[in-house]
Amino acid sequence: MGTRPEAIKLCPVILELQSRADEFESIVCVTAQHREMLDQVLSVFGVQPDHDLNIMSPGQTLAQITARATCGLDDVIKKTQPAITLVQGDTTTAFCGALASHYQHTAIGHVEAGLRTGNKFAPFPEEMNRRLIGQLADHHFAPTTHARDILLKEDVAPSQVHLTGNTVIDALLWVRQRVNERPPELPPEIKDLQKMPFVLVTGHRRESFGAGFENICMAIRQVADDLSDVQFVYPMHLNPNVREPVNRILAGHDRIHLIEPLTYEPFVWLMDRATVILTDSGGVQEEAPSLGIPVLVMRETTERPEGVAAGNAKLVGTDRETIAAELKHLLTDADARSAMADVRNPYGDGTAARQIADVIGRISEV
Ligand code: UD1
Ligand code: UDP
Repeated sequence: MGTRPEAIKLCPVILELQSRADEFESIVCVTAQHREMLDQVLSVFGVQPDHDLNIMSPGQTLAQITARATCGLDDVIKKTQPAITLVQGDTTTAFCGALASHYQHTAIGHVEAGLRTGNKFAPFPEEMNRRLIGQLADHHFAPTTHARDILLKEDVAPSQVHLTGNTVIDALLWVRQRVNERPPELPPEIKDLQKMPFVLVTGHRRESFGAGFENICMAIRQVADDLSDVQFVYPMHLNPNVREPVNRILAGHDRIHLIEPLTYEPFVWLMDRATVILTDSGGVQEEAPSLGIPVLVMRETTERPEGVAAGNAKLVGTDRETIAAELKHLLTDADARSAMADVRNPYGDGTAARQIADVIGRISEV
């Protein structure tokens, strides 16, 4: 794993495998495509990597990540000779993990398999990463029936597709219980948040860099100016392409709190209490239905149509007027919020990690 979302979604699997030490020996390798944001997650789950490639550089290009991760993972796989490599999702680290395993004739398990938009540039480069992983993988752990059906339509053998739910729900339920028992420490800027409704914002997609992010920020500023009883909390992704427009357009507003990326515990605590979530994140779209918080998705398309079909998420694109209008509507209409909040989570029941470990156990017996 290399990035924040991979770590959140693989730590439950790692902890499950570690708890069954009589059945499995697990080896954890991180590329550290993300450095700080990965380490934040590892410390919440208490996971220690056995191998750390430490590849991140500021403003890294896709080609740099691909070259460094593939070479580093190739060495680790050669040295450790695993029976199976697990990769998660659609990051460049996940793709390189699958590619390096293929080069070493190692079996590959893809966690969160079968997500597609059908557009190779949206999200970019993730849509092609996951399609390529799908071609390389031997075992596909599909989070939903929709994802399973996509894989079957692509002619993946039914015996290689395993419907498990998404491991993000395992992570979320575990951390939510922890923060409900012991509220996390919040940054000083947002200690008094509960006095007003608030919008939780995250954004990082490469296809929105430039005009898309400018529009998103101007929409937030417009709604903050129009609705004087609403606050905004924006934990900013560390990517400089995100921070530049966000700081330039949103800094200095007394009800827009621009803060550093939060560790998973305070972030879950905030999601659970937000009035509305405004995001382009994949993981957040999956978490929100479990918490009953409406989500506006700042993208033109999503590989997670289940949340939209369930009524919890709405696609609002990156057009300034549309984002502002949809956000104002939700913030001023409690019935509209309730309609989006009251849904069943289509992404899993918190047992995905156990199910994945069960499948791996069965495969290795054969
Ligand atoms: C990556 C993934 C994306 C995933 C996202 C989750 C790819 C190509 N992109 O995008 O699929 O949705 O992570 O957040 O795999 N940075 C830091 N410290 C960190 C993390 C990032 O300084 O802990 C900065 C660095 O300058 C780095 C830049 O952000 O070069 C971009 O990181 P990168 O992993 O290339 O892309 P993301 O946009 O984070
Ligand atoms: N998240 C977090 N702290 C933050 C923002 C997000 O812990 O400040 C979590 C969030 O709950 C979700 C994951 O990070 O589980 C999503 O990561 P991101 O949006 O970076 O990636 P994506 O899911 O879009 O690939």
